[in-house]
Amino acid sequence: MMQEFDLIQRSRRLRGNPVLRELVRETRVSPSALIYPLFIREGQRVREPIPSLEGQYRYSPDTLLWELETLEKAGVTRVLLFGIPQEKDACGSSAWQENGVIQTALREAKQRFPQFFYITDVCLCEYTEHGHCGIPCGGTVDNDATLPLLAKTALSHAQAGADMVAPSDMMDGRIGFLRRELDAGGFSSLPILSYTAKYASCFYGPFREAAGSAPAFGDRRSYQMDYHNRREAVKKAGQDIAQGADLLMVKPALPYLDIVSDLAAAFPLPVLAYQVSGEYAMIQAAAKNGWIDREAAICETAVSIFRAGAGGLITYFAPELAGYMREGRIG
Ligand code: PBG
Repeated sequence: MMQEFDLIQRSRRLRGNPVLRELVRETRVSPSALIYPLFIREGQRVREPIPSLEGQYRYSPDTLLWELETLEKAGVTRVLLFGIPQEKDACGSSAWQENGVIQTALREAKQRFPQFFYITDVCLCEYTEHGHCGIPCGGTVDNDATLPLLAKTALSHAQAGADMVAPSDMMDGRIGFLRRELDAGGFSSLPILSYTAKYASCFYGPFREAAGSAPAFGDRRSYQMDYHNRREAVKKAGQDIAQGADLLMVKPALPYLDIVSDLAAAFPLPVLAYQVSGEYAMIQAAAKNGWIDREAAICETAVSIFRAGAGGLITYFAPELAGYMREGRIG
């Protein structure tokens, strides 16, 4: 029976031992492609656990410095900062204050750890009492009235030392608006990472608890993307690039690998993916129940995202992943 069978190609020849398997890997990962999100709140000596994101904390500017020291040892030196202010109001005015929570933390962190790369999230939802990403208007958000506020926020981050700004609000025209404001303020070399394809997703749930930014009314579907749409992400990326975006982001990551793949193929810009809070929480919860192998799930999801075409990954697993990479468990 087997003699009749002329098996010329045998894929298993390349799978026989680990040294060979590693040689022929198509996807290689490195800690230099990881970005770690951090939540900064006001106060001193605070390192507050976030219940919905077990293992993640809210840091005050001083304890952030301790965390940076730990991160550096883990080999993660790129961070994405989110601010949680004490005071919220209707238009999110604490987002652009010189002594705001992000601005203060950034100045201190930059001084102590200049070797880090600091990206700041530019959005108003953590700063507004209604939790929307801009100025509310008739049950939705007023696009054009929000743009100057985002631009002011981005400029204040730049002035406090941000190395890159990342607008996550999803207002139309924000990249161009930010670019002009940054250029006029003397920051023409500061790159913009656009949350280009940010979908209206249930997977942001734990983040909203962490940042206290759940919308008080309605939802974000009038400004974040509809998850039924794929080609729209390509359209949106074209618009962002025309307005001056330097990097593109897809968010969430795992349910949107088609989008990562499309953008990476269509545009010669770096494409980053954000493995968001709900993706993190799912792995944490399943692992805690013994239903999934935690380390395996962390490694497999990360590699899948890179394999789809991401050039970088924003993930709450970054320090742990960097460890697995160093130990050669993935690579
Ligand atoms: C702010 C913002 C959100 C996330 C990143 N920036 C929340 C949202 O849009 O509701 C989510 C990140 C995560 O879930 O880990 N607009």
